[in-house]
Amino acid sequence: MFKNILAIYAALVLSIGFSGNTIAENMMAGNMMVKDAHSYANLDEVSSDHLHLDLTVDFDKKTLSGYAEYDIVRQAAAVSSFIVDTRDLTIERVEILGEGWQPTTFTLAAPEAVLGAKLTIALPDNARKLRIYYRTSPDAAGLQWLTPQQTAGKKHPYLFTQSQPIQVRSWIPIQDTPALRLTYSARIKTPKDLFAVMSAVNDPDAARDGDYNFTMPHRIPPYLVALGVGDLHFKAMAGNTGIYGETYILEAAAAEFADTYEMVKVAEKLYGPYQWGRFDILMMPPSYPMGGMENPMLSFITPTVVAGDKSLVDLIAHELAHSWSGNLVTNGDWNDLWLNEGTTSYVENRIMEEVFGVERAKMEKALSSQALRRELKTLDDIDTSLYVDLAGRDPEKAFSGVPYIKGQLFLLYLEEKYGREAFDPFLKQYFTAHAFQSMTSAKFIAYLKTNLMDKYPGVVSMEKINEWVYSTGMPDDSPRPTSDIFARVLQDQQDWLAGKISLTDIATTNWTVHQWLHFITNLPEEMAVGRMAQLDEAYHLTASRNNEIAHAWLLQGLKHDYKAILPRLKAYLPGIGRLKLIRPLYKQLATTPGGLVMAKEIYRPARPGYHPSAQKVLDKILGE
Ligand code: BES
Ligand code: ZN
Repeated sequence: MFKNILAIYAALVLSIGFSGNTIAENMMAGNMMVKDAHSYANLDEVSSDHLHLDLTVDFDKKTLSGYAEYDIVRQAAAVSSFIVDTRDLTIERVEILGEGWQPTTFTLAAPEAVLGAKLTIALPDNARKLRIYYRTSPDAAGLQWLTPQQTAGKKHPYLFTQSQPIQVRSWIPIQDTPALRLTYSARIKTPKDLFAVMSAVNDPDAARDGDYNFTMPHRIPPYLVALGVGDLHFKAMAGNTGIYGETYILEAAAAEFADTYEMVKVAEKLYGPYQWGRFDILMMPPSYPMGGMENPMLSFITPTVVAGDKSLVDLIAHELAHSWSGNLVTNGDWNDLWLNEGTTSYVENRIMEEVFGVERAKMEKALSSQALRRELKTLDDIDTSLYVDLAGRDPEKAFSGVPYIKGQLFLLYLEEKYGREAFDPFLKQYFTAHAFQSMTSAKFIAYLKTNLMDKYPGVVSMEKINEWVYSTGMPDDSPRPTSDIFARVLQDQQDWLAGKISLTDIATTNWTVHQWLHFITNLPEEMAVGRMAQLDEAYHLTASRNNEIAHAWLLQGLKHDYKAILPRLKAYLPGIGRLKLIRPLYKQLATTPGGLVMAKEIYRPARPGYHPSAQKVLDKILGE
């Protein structure tokens, strides 16, 4: 029935041309209880405050099997069933604990494309716990199984999970909505020579005997349950930080991320105590489809950011920032993703400013807000609002630059309007007041009104706030981050293009990765291919070992039909799984018939090495 209400709102909003205020006003006035459109769970009737997992990892069969046990918390007087989300799971049996363990009945509905299969379990009145015995499918969307050949060490396989936004249901039958919070514990059995780590308390000195135990003492949303298994070792860094990974990368990663503890300390100063005990990093295999994932106590990080010069460590600041925005205060459903990612992008940049200085922070803001403005032109109008109604759609679709960068610019706008003296304490208090709770746009706005807007009347209007959150496109007066250093870069570029100077006149020796990225991404669309060759000869860009620079350059190479990049492109694409780096290149290739043929030649042998979610995205781009 809630879907209908949303549908009516959507229709209304569309018919009045998305002026913005309707949803906000109705949500606030009516205090609407929002049911997560991406979960079947009957949270309002029954939920759980603790999960215990007992799973065996089988690399030959590519399955996890065992059980998930829930402590039952009844929310309503009469409850007859416990409904959980599943995807491609085989449910073997379900037991409840009343007077001893006994079987109970269940029905697994036919799977639905976006949501998966609803599992309805009969819940007798005396049930205090229930256990679901199950096994995963080798194609589980939230798992990637790597053969030894696909790892760096080549000797041992590697398994990792990716649960956000709604993939945890493909490896745990669970009430898969961020409106739920629960603690968890786990016993994970692996082949003897492997090591398991989770988004929980990890013991780097645990006996490597294939039997590992974990506890997560804080209540977290289900999408933050995470597991990694492989030939993993540990290297301690300063304070509460350290690195897990295959041995080949431990030293390099520890050097690259040596400032992590400093980041923790500056974030604490700004936003209050770090609540999670340790902040460790798990180095993922190169096929990891993302940059990073903020799994609590153990962020998962792509090796593509180990550049040798700390140029890409904003990713660490980002995942760390989620320890406040996202993991402590969590979006109530995926329509409000901006509350996680926008707030995090803002906090990330504040951390970068403290640790690496204001110029670097400015450059990073300028790069990302420029990228957003380019991306906005490619998005459907409806997807350019911070709050998006994703009912009936895959919530993966919400992960564009909009929640990240438009969200960041919204907070930057507030910071500029109220000044850091007022805005910093506000944000800190927002995190503290809502720690371990979920948040919605309407709740955020109400809190903002009481704790900032009403205190300093006349600074920002409610219309403006609603425009930021509920309207499409960018407000006219949105911040436009710039950098003097970048202005110089573009001036040099223009002078060179105009023939006033030659490349040797540009003082690039001390350019940072950010300056190179700005230079490359701003090359004009209409530019003779000979110019590309000149740049390459002067700066060896095709050979760049920095994955971001290489990405930006290869993309320009394709756009300008500069064929000398092709051998590098053919080596680059199969070796990297991070979608942000490879999707635009495949997409660009697919714009010409010849390019599409080449893309398929590169993709087909590479496909088995990519993550299931990456395969899905790339299959679609290439029509495979
Ligand atoms: N929470 C995201 C990872 C994510 C992205 C999960 C998409 C599910 C779908 C993570 O915190 C993130 O934002 N990663 C970015 C980092 C970047 C913006 C610094 C990434 O992976 O590129
Ligand atoms: Zn994030």
